[in-house]
Amino acid sequence: MAPAEDLKRRAAARALEFVTDGMRLGLGTGSTARHFVELLAERVREGLNVLCVPTSEQTLQQAVDLGVPIATLDEAGPLDLCIDGADEVGPGLALIKGGGGALLREKIVARAAREMVVIADASKKVAVLGRFPLPVEVVDFGVSSIERSLADAIREAGCAGPLALRRDGDGHAFVTDQGHLIIDAHLGRIADPVLLAQAVAQVPGVVEHGLFLGLASRAVLAGTDGIVVLDR
Ligand code: 5RP
Repeated sequence: MAPAEDLKRRAAARALEFVTDGMRLGLGTGSTARHFVELLAERVREGLNVLCVPTSEQTLQQAVDLGVPIATLDEAGPLDLCIDGADEVGPGLALIKGGGGALLREKIVARAAREMVVIADASKKVAVLGRFPLPVEVVDFGVSSIERSLADAIREAGCAGPLALRRDGDGHAFVTDQGHLIIDAHLGRIADPVLLAQAVAQVPGVVEHGLFLGLASRAVLAGTDGIVVLDR
């Protein structure tokens, strides 16, 4: 296994220790969450009883393939724990998420859970959020206009940088599981994530953004020198 994948898997394995029998779990999206689902599936085969709500079609498919019991969020109700990756982990466990385009369902599921544990390799920890482009999920009506309004709102919140409509490998607009588009805001530095989150959320056409503030309660970060568990 490549060293980077090994770190992700080690973070996932450590987070599995927080899972107990009978829990209702939110399953994140991305390469780190993928390791978690694989390891969880091994425990399920050994008899662990859990009910899981996937945060994307991709994770749903993986869970089905591996025999992990799944439910919709409406069927499962309040969740005990949500385990997900992140693109950046900042001070106070403020996160940027949505690199995989699943931020809307990820945020709904994280909010529905009593606890959210982030799993990542230690390189995701940053002193200031923003080097990773901030994903903003928008409706597909008037996207150019939404992009201009978004740029204004971002500027008023004290940030700056180019915005870009996310595209897939074929050059087509990337479409989320909920049928929306994503604008990535390349900001470099987000001095005040709360202010920016408020400003972005107020733009008509914005469905959700990738700033996860006050949602993660714990982060499991795996580095070459070991695993660090941070609590908010
Ligand atoms: C998907 C996400 C992922 O959690 C995030 O992109 C991290 O992915 P990875 O574990 O592959 O680095 O937010 O929308």
